[in-house]
Amino acid sequence: MTNQTLFETLNPPQRLLMGPGPINAYPRVHQAISQSLIGQYDPVMTGYMTQVQSLYRGVFETNNQQTMLVDGTARSGIEAVLVSVLKPGDKVLIPIIGRFGHLLCEIAERVGAVVRTIDIEWGEVCPAELVEKEIKAFQPKLLATVQGDTSTTMNQPLKELGELCQRYDVLFYCDATASIAGNELKVDDWHLDAVSAGLQKCLGGPSGSAPITLSDRCAEVINRRKHIEAGIKADHHQAGTDEIIRSNYFDLAMIMDYWGPERLNHHTEATSMLYAARECARLFLEEGADTVVARHKLAGDAMANGLQAMGLELFGNPTYKMNNVVGVYIPDEVDGDKVRQELLHSFGIEIGTSFGPLHGKIWRIGTMGYNARQEAVLTTLAALEAVLVRNKAKIIPGQGVIAAMEHYA
Ligand SMILES: Cc1ncc(COP(=O)(O)O)c(C=O)c1O
Repeated sequence: MTNQTLFETLNPPQRLLMGPGPINAYPRVHQAISQSLIGQYDPVMTGYMTQVQSLYRGVFETNNQQTMLVDGTARSGIEAVLVSVLKPGDKVLIPIIGRFGHLLCEIAERVGAVVRTIDIEWGEVCPAELVEKEIKAFQPKLLATVQGDTSTTMNQPLKELGELCQRYDVLFYCDATASIAGNELKVDDWHLDAVSAGLQKCLGGPSGSAPITLSDRCAEVINRRKHIEAGIKADHHQAGTDEIIRSNYFDLAMIMDYWGPERLNHHTEATSMLYAARECARLFLEEGADTVVARHKLAGDAMANGLQAMGLELFGNPTYKMNNVVGVYIPDEVDGDKVRQELLHSFGIEIGTSFGPLHGKIWRIGTMGYNARQEAVLTTLAALEAVLVRNKAKIIPGQGVIAAMEHYA
């Protein structure tokens, strides 16, 4: 704790958030969040819910009717999909390319699913041939993947995996929290059955809402487990024939009913977060999917070029690097956490540390959403260079910012 007091007015410092997320939200998203609250069944509110469904069909590039928000951080979207699709004993295949693949396993195991993993060295992605081999041998109900795994900065190609899932009749889920809006994601073209996301990366909002989309066949699997709560059940309601979903809050059959024409009561939709999610989607669609992804690539490449020109080494296979975050080795002669602290306290800039086998070895620097901008990239490079020089790192001074400027030029 600094010299904060309990009763002082909330006055967080201005930071430039250049880590792997969360990032600074677009100003328009802040405005949206501060709009008045209305009741959950106010026709204006239900109208906004319907708009949000339509907007996110655009973001996900899908025609899926079942496109909505799960209230909670991105992890809530993951958990909702896995607990709603997987019954105890169901088989799920999970390629692990980083920390968030482990998270999928953790959740699937808690659900009671039988989990088979494909363990990939951090910094690489999972080849489609390996997935095919495992699908043939294991015959899973679900293939669960992470597109952009921020822990390693790698972007798993999905198109071929989607084709395999079609061929072998496997449901295909992807956690696109960190990749959506910064990297290509074509839900229908790539035959994805379920995708979940979050706002706090390239969509440029705060964490706390998880947009998801479900194909018709996935929604059918979930609806077979439908249960209607006592107290709201009417004669026309029909429960599914399959085993009940083992979570009430994350029961997607109930959440679909809440977002559906009957608006059957479940939770109270998080109004302010819905405003935020709506504005994130509007910003994305107004700018245009291709333009937004290109802006992330430009910013990400400028940052990577700048770091390399400074003499720093990048982490991971460059062919599969996410557009919006880069891993960079911490020079041996400096203390990684001290550099991050100095960046934060002297410049108000946050960059990311890393997890597991990469902890203490790499920093992760993001260029996402509102911060996928030239000034954010150049300011970060200039500040990092100054802190590294001050910490006696053996870098090439004077080159990083210029290389990034040249990339932009
Ligand atoms: C790929 C990925 N999945 C899931 C999450 C979890 O998101 P949240 O912290 O919003 O629950 C993150 C957060 O960094 C992420 O990068």
